[in-house]
Amino acid sequence: MPWDPTLYSAFAQPRLRPALDLLARIDAGHPRLVADLGCGTGNVTRILADRWHDATIAGIDSSPEMLSAASAQPSRIRWGKADIAHWRPERPADVLFSNAALQWLDGHETLFPRLVAQLAPRGTLAVQMPHNHYAASHAVMADTVEAGPWAARLRPLARRFPVNDPDFYYEVLAPLVDSLDIWETEYLHVLEGDNPVVQWTMGTALRPLLDALEEPERSEFLAEYSRRIADCYPPHADGKTLFPFRRIFIVAKARG
Ligand SMILES: C[S@@+](CC[C@H](N)C(=O)[O-])C[C@H]1O[C@@H](n2cnc3c(N)ncnc32)[C@H](O)[C@@H]1O
Repeated sequence: MPWDPTLYSAFAQPRLRPALDLLARIDAGHPRLVADLGCGTGNVTRILADRWHDATIAGIDSSPEMLSAASAQPSRIRWGKADIAHWRPERPADVLFSNAALQWLDGHETLFPRLVAQLAPRGTLAVQMPHNHYAASHAVMADTVEAGPWAARLRPLARRFPVNDPDFYYEVLAPLVDSLDIWETEYLHVLEGDNPVVQWTMGTALRPLLDALEEPERSEFLAEYSRRIADCYPPHADGKTLFPFRRIFIVAKARG
C-alpha cells in the first residue's frame, strides 16, 4: 500500500507519545544492534539512535515513500527496504522495536515467535499496536464498506480485527521468553480541525480502502464515512474533538 508521509505526519505529536511510552519500558543498557521495524519516516528511529549512541541502528520499512522521507535527513541510521515478515537481522538483535506497524501484518501467531527467535540472549522485543478496532473510528469504517456498491470490492481489504486481545499475545509469547510485560492504554487525543478523526484515519486505516476506489466512488465513500464519523465524534464547545484511542504494548525479554 502506498503511504503518504505528509498525511501520516499530520498528527505527529499524538502518534509519538505511545512510542515514547514504549521506549521508556525498555531496559537495555548497551545494545549492539537495535532495529526499528516499520520505521516510517524515521522520527522514532532517530530517538532510538539518540538513546543508544553506541549501537548500530537499523530502520526497516517496506514503503519507498516512507524510506525516502526518512533518509532525507542525514543520520547514522541504516535504512533498509524489506518486508518485516521476511526480514532477518545481520546478527541477533539486542532490541527489536516496532511502533504502530505490526498491525499491518497477518499471522501474529507465527510472526511474534519469529521475531523473538531473532533476539540475542537477553534481547528485547518491544511492540506497540493500535487496538482501537472496536471503537467507532474503525467500526464505522466497516459499516461504510457494507453500505455501498463498493462492498464486494472493499470487503477483502477491510482488515476488521488485525490485532488480537492481550491474552493471545500472552499465550503465544510466555512460553518463549524470560519475562513478558503486556498492557493497554487508552489515550484521549485532543484534535483540532473539522471532523479530525477522518483526517487521522486517512493517514492509516482508511488508506487501502480509498486507494482501491476510483472517482466518483472514492469521494462518495469518503463523504459517507465522514458523515457517520461526525455524529460519533462531535466537537466540544472549544471546537476541539476528543478521540479516545486504545493501544496495546508488549515488551518481551529473551532468555539468557
Ligand atoms: C503507521 S506507520 C508507523 C511508522 C513509525 N513506526 C512511527 O511510529 O511513526 C506504519 C509503517 O509500517 C510500515 N509497514 C507496514 N507493513 C510493513 C511490512 N510488512 N514490512 C515493513 N514495513 C511495513 C509502513 O510502510 C509504515 O511506514
